[in-house]
Amino acid sequence: LHIALFFTLASHGESAGRYDNDLYYGKFPEDFVWSSATSAYQIEGGWNADGKGLSIWDTFTHAGKAANNDTGDVACDSYHKYKEDVKLLKDLHVTHYRFSISWPRVLPNGTIDNINEAGIDYYNNLINSLIANNIQPMVTLYHWDLPQDLEDQGGWLNETTNEHFKNYSRLCFERFGDRVKFWITFNEPWIVAWLGYGVAAFAPRKNGPGDLAYISAHNLIKAHAKAYHEYDDNFRASQNGTIGITLNAGWSEPKDPSSLSDQEASQRDMQFQLGWFANAIFVNGDYPDVMKWRIGNNSETQNLPKSRLPAFTDAEKQYNKGTSDFFGLNFYTSSLVTDNKNVNRSVQSYDVDKGVAGEADPTWKESGSGWLKVTPFGMRKVLKWIKDTYNTPVTYVTENGVSDRTGVLNDVDRIDYYKNYINQMLKAMKLDGCNVKGYTAWSLMDNFEWASGYTERFGLHYVDFTKPDRPRVQKESAKWYANFVSNPEFPL
Ligand code: NOJ
Repeated sequence: LHIALFFTLASHGESAGRYDNDLYYGKFPEDFVWSSATSAYQIEGGWNADGKGLSIWDTFTHAGKAANNDTGDVACDSYHKYKEDVKLLKDLHVTHYRFSISWPRVLPNGTIDNINEAGIDYYNNLINSLIANNIQPMVTLYHWDLPQDLEDQGGWLNETTNEHFKNYSRLCFERFGDRVKFWITFNEPWIVAWLGYGVAAFAPRKNGPGDLAYISAHNLIKAHAKAYHEYDDNFRASQNGTIGITLNAGWSEPKDPSSLSDQEASQRDMQFQLGWFANAIFVNGDYPDVMKWRIGNNSETQNLPKSRLPAFTDAEKQYNKGTSDFFGLNFYTSSLVTDNKNVNRSVQSYDVDKGVAGEADPTWKESGSGWLKVTPFGMRKVLKWIKDTYNTPVTYVTENGVSDRTGVLNDVDRIDYYKNYINQMLKAMKLDGCNVKGYTAWSLMDNFEWASGYTERFGLHYVDFTKPDRPRVQKESAKWYANFVSNPEFPL
């Protein structure tokens, strides 16, 4: 044992300090939530089955915008194979399953006047099957597949979409809320706003160098608050569930930790990404000061044509504030950041707005996704940042995982990733006092990775996309995860 311990310490020793990835020996609480996740468009297929309407991702893929012209038309065919998915989850020994509802599957035009009962049946069957197997549903209402009809009316740039989202949410609470006790309004609104309406990399491919992103984000926050209040006012008492939002964060590590301007750049970067949404929801109903200073009225940008950050009224601030029962965090990776405040501000873009330049440390291990470098230490740092910034909120890690491009079944790198990130989460809990209540592995199976199509595989299960029935095969990481969650501890 001593020799083993010596080698462990010795082999991890050099990483201690700058990036502390060292293993901690400890154990998770009994009531900890262990989950795995997917989302509707990424797995369901059945793109036009039984009355489903089109979403903006159907439009995106049918226009050939994803890698290899891939589409989600069939994906993992979970629309037909949900019973098999539940079996995989059962074998994974998870307590929860995080999936999303496709808005246009239940409301083909996005509006409440046309309900597709076949779509409702699909989710009822899935939910019932989960519960029969003692797996609790964690349901995301919006994982990016906006009904195309609503996009045609302006999508998230049009405030009326918020009201449609509230009506859709109410329908879900009414039809599923007797059994669903864990709701997530939006998944990663930052991606929706920035990739969808800022740089046009994702559906609906709108491009308005920053400005449209800020407008869409403004509506996403308001729509979230509406859905939260709808639940809080009309369903909480009878259904007794919990509802919140899931935000994504990379950890922004100051490139030169001793440089004050790099430290400030790190804080600014965190505020522009997490704070953009979290400040309104978890702090004071409004955008972070640093965003207002840089792009709001009477800001450093006075010389620019107009304020680019929409403003909330006082009533809206009141309405936004405190609208999440928990902090849902999707965490994958980190970057090294430096101050870049002195670039030409007449160029309007989000990066210029932030005044931050980011890069990866070349020593960080790569994955199957260019943006995703393996940085376990960042998990602990982000959780600590959330604790310090938002007053120790109840936190659920609603996604964490890693891709490869091979789909190898003996996926030792993925096991390594999970082990180290989960361990850093445990350190955040035990050593930093973070109030983390659950963890979710992304993903249950290989699936449609948005603009990258099927080239990046995040699954605990391999899916053969060349076969019409999309067979699933357990990877070694699934066995490791099943084993770990059955006895969640890192023993000496
Ligand atoms: C975030 C998203 O929520 C999910 O849809 C995506 O597949 C994973 N991260 C991996 O990129």
